Amino acid sequence: MRVAVLSAEAVPYSKTGGLGDVAGALPKALRAVGEDAFLITPCYWQTRGEYLWHTAVHDLDVEWRGGRYPAKAFYSEANGSPTFLIDAPSYFHRDSIYGYVEDYERFAFFNHAALALIKRLGAPPDIVHLNDWHCGFAAVELAHLRFWDSYWRDTRTVFSIHNLAYQGGFDLGELWKFGFSSDFERNAFAFNGYASAMKAGLAVSDMLSTVSRTYGYEMQTPANGYGLDWLLRERSDRLYGIVNGVDFDIWNPETDRELGAHYNALDLSGKRECKRQLLEQFSLPVDLDRPIFANITRLTAQKGIDLMMAVAGDILATGAYIVSLGSGERQYENFWQKLRDYAPRQVGVFRGYNESLAHRIEAGADVFMMPSKFEPCGLNQMYSLRYGTIPVVRAVGGLDDTVENFDAVSGTGNGFKFREYSPDKFLEKIYEALFAYYDKDAWRKLQWNGMTIDNSWENAARKYVELYRRTVS
Ligand code: ADP
Ligand code: GLC
Repeated sequence: MRVAVLSAEAVPYSKTGGLGDVAGALPKALRAVGEDAFLITPCYWQTRGEYLWHTAVHDLDVEWRGGRYPAKAFYSEANGSPTFLIDAPSYFHRDSIYGYVEDYERFAFFNHAALALIKRLGAPPDIVHLNDWHCGFAAVELAHLRFWDSYWRDTRTVFSIHNLAYQGGFDLGELWKFGFSSDFERNAFAFNGYASAMKAGLAVSDMLSTVSRTYGYEMQTPANGYGLDWLLRERSDRLYGIVNGVDFDIWNPETDRELGAHYNALDLSGKRECKRQLLEQFSLPVDLDRPIFANITRLTAQKGIDLMMAVAGDILATGAYIVSLGSGERQYENFWQKLRDYAPRQVGVFRGYNESLAHRIEAGADVFMMPSKFEPCGLNQMYSLRYGTIPVVRAVGGLDDTVENFDAVSGTGNGFKFREYSPDKFLEKIYEALFAYYDKDAWRKLQWNGMTIDNSWENAARKYVELYRRTVS
């Protein structure tokens, strides 16, 4: 099948979170299982020049807002699949990837340009795979195009929800500027008096998916549906949950280029060396027998930062280290800074985004904390499993689907998991993790169970192929 994957971010061209990891890996994985997949993503100012192999289309003149926008498309295979990067400087050459009042217009343009590009490339795709609100516009455009442009007649859309909390809302009055003027189009976007690109994607795509089975159910409840649960329930016969995979070319402790030492499930001596280097990098006293509790995340309420704030003092009281990498809301950034000032010999903090450090923390830490309020899938718990770093997670979304609570008697499970969103429940699991840490056999078993799990993209890609087949049939 010919599959065009559209995403606002994709590794290694751009990344702010898990969507980038997923969109970079999925087309490569689809090709590995025999499908003709390619990726289309914006070329940001942040996209490194070395990834832009050549210009694929010099004159991608896109009809836009009553005129023409002279865009280009670069070509690359830096992520392991054919990739086209839409170059439109006024929209994408900016200080950050998101965060502008007219983001909706930037991605409306990206969608429109991507469809124009696909048509230039030749054979129509069987599937256009859209990701998150940034791609809701193409769902509507294609629903319309397939009736009057024979090129698109047999193309179907799959829309993947990575995070329902971000919906791409804007004024309904803007729609006509992007060529959406029919009642059908207006109704597709209309949501509570506004236009929502997420709602449009959910309403008109041929098939819907999300990034774990559990989140697929959770999003159909008022508590987690962000006002769209009714629509998801209405379309639940078209909604599938497929857990993300891990790109082992990038996240593998045996080959990871960011690490000073390598290891695998059979020989973990390299992990000890990674731990030593991590402590040194944070200028912490090196005591390899004390556990390191780590967290890498966007600092937003979604990630359960307030639970971590509530238990941090108790963790430090046990003598353990805490290492945190992240950036985001000021109140959370301030908290981590203050914690470091309070216990400079036990706490390491890096504020900001640092890809290389993320790898070194996954390898050097002992326990990974992920007490999310909600978590569509979550990738760090899966990276942690692979790196022999034991996850302590809340049983929501993809965390519930990928982490199994450890049972010391039977020796089953790969992490620690609590359900109720409360500091006490979280702390209980932290203590259980600590208890296991000081029991060498239990810890070894936990690490083995996590490191030998097959969370490969190959599994996930096969499920997507099945979903695509169902969509076109
Ligand atoms: P989300 O997409 O909701 O942020 P995920 O767990 O799916 O959560 O993915 C987060 C991805 O972003 C992981 O690859 C993680 O390592 C990375 N990441 C998050 N914050 C940072 C940071 N400050 N520096 C480097 N990588 C980060
Ligand atoms: C979103 C979710 C995260 C998921 C990622 C990739 O950013 O918050 O849970 O892993 O998308 O699907």
